[in-house]
Amino acid sequence: MGSIRLAVPGDAEAIRRIYNEEVLHGIATFDLHPMETEAAARLVAAHQPPLHPLIVMTAGEDIAGWGSLSPYRTKEAYRTTAELSVYVDGRHRREGVGSALMAELLRMARAAGELHLIVSVITSGNEASERLHRRFGFSFGGHMPECGKKFGRWLGTDTWYLQLESDG
Ligand SMILES: CC(C)(COP(=O)(O)OP(=O)(O)OC[C@H]1O[C@@H](n2cnc3c(N)ncnc32)[C@H](O)[C@@H]1OP(=O)(O)O)[C@@H](O)C(=O)NCCC(=O)NCCS
Repeated sequence: MGSIRLAVPGDAEAIRRIYNEEVLHGIATFDLHPMETEAAARLVAAHQPPLHPLIVMTAGEDIAGWGSLSPYRTKEAYRTTAELSVYVDGRHRREGVGSALMAELLRMARAAGELHLIVSVITSGNEASERLHRRFGFSFGGHMPECGKKFGRWLGTDTWYLQLESDG
């Protein structure tokens, strides 16, 4: 397995490619149109530690997957909550990449000292993501039925959360 590091601007294209696989062929994201080059550059620039890191796992010269902590909502009292995302290249799934990215994001979240809750919004039926979150101790926070439509079928979402020890 490769190593994990903070994303740099040169990773934007690989991040975009991995994400767009899921936009076009998967249900993990409700985006219907591929992420553009400029949006990927903005995504990398907008994520900064300690509260909102964007990390990648390398695979030789390539990127096997990426993960991020993002602001959950913009209103100020939500500052102690972050939303987690993990996307692994289809060629590298089931190799422990998602788990390694998750472990590092949670380590960074704890080290930040100001985050109290990590939230993930998972498309219902995404068994891989559900297993990943269970494995790291996340709890089920609620189900929203039929809140999106993709590939001609209704999709619901499940909210999963992990409380950190920090008081924020
Ligand atoms: C979810 C995802 C990140 C998992 O990444 P991964 O590198 O394959 O995960 P790992 O190899 O570390 O495995 C993590 C757990 O998921 C399980 N898993 C992985 N792929 C699976 C699949 N297709 N079906 C069922 N379980 C699966 C593994 O068995 C493991 O479970 P365990 O710990 O109970 O044994 C990856 O499938 C992915 O990128 N999916 C599309 C995007 C997505 O759903 N992101 C999550 C939204 S926040």
